[in-house]
Amino acid sequence: MKALLTHCLLLAALPTIARSEPANLIEAAGKQFTMGVGIDDRIHEMPDDWPLLKKHFQIITPENCMKPVAIQPTQGSFNFAQADAFVAFAQQNNLEIVGHCLVWAKDDRTPHWFYLDDAGNPLGREELLKRMKTYIDTVVGRYKGKIAMWDVVNEALADGNEDLRPSGWTKATGEEFIAKAFEYAHAADPDALLIYNDYNNELPAKREKMDRLIRSLLEKKVPIHAIGLQGHYEIDRIPFEQLEKTFEWAKSLGLQVVISELDIDMIPRGIWWADGGKNREEIAKINPYTEGLPQELLDRQAEQYAKLFSLFKKHSDNILRISFWNLHDGQSWLNDFPWKRTNHPLLFDRDRKEKPAYHAVIKALANPEN
Ligand code: GLA
Repeated sequence: MKALLTHCLLLAALPTIARSEPANLIEAAGKQFTMGVGIDDRIHEMPDDWPLLKKHFQIITPENCMKPVAIQPTQGSFNFAQADAFVAFAQQNNLEIVGHCLVWAKDDRTPHWFYLDDAGNPLGREELLKRMKTYIDTVVGRYKGKIAMWDVVNEALADGNEDLRPSGWTKATGEEFIAKAFEYAHAADPDALLIYNDYNNELPAKREKMDRLIRSLLEKKVPIHAIGLQGHYEIDRIPFEQLEKTFEWAKSLGLQVVISELDIDMIPRGIWWADGGKNREEIAKINPYTEGLPQELLDRQAEQYAKLFSLFKKHSDNILRISFWNLHDGQSWLNDFPWKRTNHPLLFDRDRKEKPAYHAVIKALANPEN
């Protein structure tokens, strides 16, 4: 009887005993979504990063080495050395891979020769699609069964008035290159999950264009499975409400969502493009946090990351993966783009130490009330 009483008392006390923090992001996310990170192409040569990477992440995206400019910089010559090493590293370490990306629908991100015939004239529709098919067959075919998901088309939606960003692709094929890219990728690896990836596509202007595009793809039964929201945010300007609307929109179309390149810029870059870019000389000198981020900003970043992850958690039935863009603050692209500055956009600092944002995310993920 006494034993039973003690047992009951213990049980009653359980909820008040502080639960220890989950050991890492993977454990905190549990079955809700997969945790990923975009990482240096040379990760296989960077042993100092391996413990942090393997502790928190299940799926990795190569930062550059699978982009068309890296894989086929000139006609006829495929350059797979770096991508092969990346895939081998992932396999040895039981990490899944996001292939990024098959078509980057921007002229300055497409190998120059791609649109042109031998005489230097623009290719017609058929020839360009044929070239794209050869490229996709070769790349997706090479890694068939080794790459879990592909960003098939990246950044095709226009920032300006047009629906699609004008490019050599649209000039030759209109929007057909998008449908074809998905069809070719699906044929080359029917088991890979296929993603349309973009930035600002959770904001109304681009979401409307995306809605038209995706509906037209779905009507044609194009094999598209998920929408990638890059998630390159700026502190104090995270579009929480629009994100939620976008999750609901994707769900209504039967599509899953991935957050593909998450970070929070602490020295917001938007000003770089303001007023037609006329103040860039001055802006390029802005570099306030070379000695670290003040506590107040660390806390604000933590709060905003927590709010984001609470939202992701709420929609986790339809969010497949959350990937950060880069492993720690010292490796972020936001230290260089669009001007050089010491930035702090991620969950881990330059010494690979957990920041307040890390603990806030863990807490948000673990909180059963979220
Ligand atoms: C885009 C691309 C990524 C990467 C980032 C910046 O979001 O999709 O591959 O280049 O820009 O580094």
